[in-house]
Parts: sequence; C-alpha cells; structure tokens
Amino acid sequence: MATSTDGSMRRGANREALLDAVYDKLDSLDLAPYWAVNPNESQNDEDGQVLKGAKAIPFMWKYSDIEPLLYEAAELITMDDSERRSIVLVNPGLAPVRATVSTLYTAYRLNDPREIMPPHSHSINAVRIGLTGDQNFTGVEGEAITFGPGDVVLTPANAWHNHGNHGDDYAVNVSILDLPLTEVLNAASFEHDYKEEIDGQMVSRREQTTRYSDDHSHKTYGFGGLRPRFLDHHRGTGVHSPMYVYRWNKTRELLENFRDHEGSPWDAIQVEYTDPVNGRTAYPTMTFFGQMLRPGEHTLPQQQNASQVVIPFHGNGHSIVGGKRFDWSPFDAIAIPGGEWYEHANGSDSEEATLFSASDEPVLKALGFYKRHGKTESGEIILLD
Ligand SMILES: [Fe+2]
Repeated sequence: MATSTDGSMRRGANREALLDAVYDKLDSLDLAPYWAVNPNESQNDEDGQVLKGAKAIPFMWKYSDIEPLLYEAAELITMDDSERRSIVLVNPGLAPVRATVSTLYTAYRLNDPREIMPPHSHSINAVRIGLTGDQNFTGVEGEAITFGPGDVVLTPANAWHNHGNHGDDYAVNVSILDLPLTEVLNAASFEHDYKEEIDGQMVSRREQTTRYSDDHSHKTYGFGGLRPRFLDHHRGTGVHSPMYVYRWNKTRELLENFRDHEGSPWDAIQVEYTDPVNGRTAYPTMTFFGQMLRPGEHTLPQQQNASQVVIPFHGNGHSIVGGKRFDWSPFDAIAIPGGEWYEHANGSDSEEATLFSASDEPVLKALGFYKRHGKTESGEIILLD
C-alpha cells in the first residue's frame, strides 16, 4: 500500500479532512488514536482521554431515605419472589455500574422476623454490619453467627453462607463487598446449589450443618495476642481472617481505652479490624476501621488514593469531601472516592461519634500505588504514607 513519508500530507490543505477520515477508519475498526496534541488546538487531547473514565464522586445517602424503602420493598417482595432483597448504593459518577466507589459495593438489607435464606457462595468478599435488631443471622461455613448493632461479620470469598434473622423483630444490616473490583478483574462468580455429603452422596441442602460452636470466632480469637495451638487456623481460601465476627463491644472497649489519648490529627482514635493470626488486614482487598471522634473533635484534612465508604454509627456530625459538606446521622453512608480531600467533624460538644469505614487500601498497598497526604494546622501539605 502506498504511503507518504515525505511529510507532504502532514501540512497539506486537506489535512483536517484526511485526519477525520483516519479517525473514522480507526473507530470503525475498534481502534483508537493515541498521539498527544496540544489540547488547545485540537479535540484530540490524549492525556485527557486516558483519564476520562467514569469516576466516583463524593456523595452521601441518608438512612432516613433508605429505611422507609426497605420496609416498602419488604411488603412487596417476599422471600418467595427473591432470595435477595437489598437496596444498593449507586454512585452517581459511576451509574449505571452498581458501585458505591470504584472498587466497593454497598447494600442495605431488611430481614423479616424469622426469615432465613438458603446458602450461597461467591468469589466476592463481603462484610456485613448489624444496624438494627439483635438477631441478624449469618451462617458462615458451618459457624452460626447471630449479631446485633455494630457487630462486623465476614463472609469471605467462596465461603458458603446464608443470611437471615432469628428475632421476632425486623433486622437491618448493611453489606460492603469488593464486587466492582472482582468485576474489573473478571473474577466474579456465584454459586447457589449448596451440597453436603450424606452417606457418601453429595446432596443439595437449604441449611448448613453446624460445624463450629456459635461463639467459635470469639472463643478462639477474642483474646488478642493469644492463639490456640491445637486448632487449625486455615479457614476457606486461607488469605483472609479466620475470625468471622468482630463484636462491637470489643471495638468500643478498645476505642474507649484511648479516649484520652491525643490520637491522630487526621484519623482521631481509629482502630483497624485485622486477621488475628498474622496481623494482616481482614481481607487482601478490603480493610475496615472503627473510629471515635471525641466531643467537638474535627480531623485535619487528608487525601489518599484509597477509596472508602463510611457509615456513622453513633452521634451526629459532618464530613467535608472534595469541598462538599455532608451532615450525617447514624447509618447514613458517605462515599469518599480516592483522590478527594476529606475531613470529619463531631457536631456535638458533649457526646462522642463513632464511624465505621471500609477501604480498598490493601489493594493499593499490595500494588505499590498507595499514597496519603495530610494538611497540618498551618495548611502545609505533608506526605503521611
Ligand atoms: Fe452473599
């Protein structure tokens, strides 16, 4: 095929028309041009195009909007209609992709009294936090976990689990999953046919046979720094915490122990949920924090490239994320996309506020991308991590 290499076409009078024809041809062949041109002179701004993918925006969902819809949905959709009845937080910057921030998915769920779902499993890691009701239920690989407000339950990748409510009252919980990350990695899969071996045959079952005591996680790992030597600590894939429930009263006790500590100017009094066997994050993809803002406490602004979902548990206050102010109350959810400056403030001068956060920080750290900056009292920007 004849080509012009002497540059005669490059500045010819019909260059624009020829270039447009090239763009059309590329487009029709599912190819894209990549040649950086001064963005002021052309629409073909390559760096801009590389960065123009959909981005999560700072956002807040109010529980006062979500709660009535949970009850309305419960009236209209029974367990016979769907085993799943959740309300998903869709970030307006990412819609129609169902993601709260780029890597994390959040869903609120109301369980009817005495409602138990059949088991399922998926390659996605999830955490479930009790909001209302004392008898939320999740069976995880044979450990029957009943949980209340503030308790944090892990359902790790590929672990068979079933959800429900053992109580006589409605129970609400919120789940955070690494689903959007697994979708990007083409690693999301689901299974619904739970089987157990009975008399040498694999038989489908609607319930898991109990294989651990109901208090196994706490009985085994609730002592911090002590590990039973006679137990096998390899559960599931072995890359997540074997402790499947973290009780709120322990988190609260630890936060209270440091109430009078100066804490971090950027994170106040914050504790991380870790794998009790090796001190790593509970999941390789997500980490979780409990945080206390003392009365009147206001953190200094920080910016990191990890993305977070924050759920206030107690108290009232506000957060400023990417220059937007969000006034929060218990059980609201705030999206803090990576790259946005943010700060949290307790609105009360007499009561503490507590927040739960999920973050994709472990992924960024594992890949060498993690960066965090903070502003000092004088406004100077310093590298924190
Ligand atoms: Fe699940």
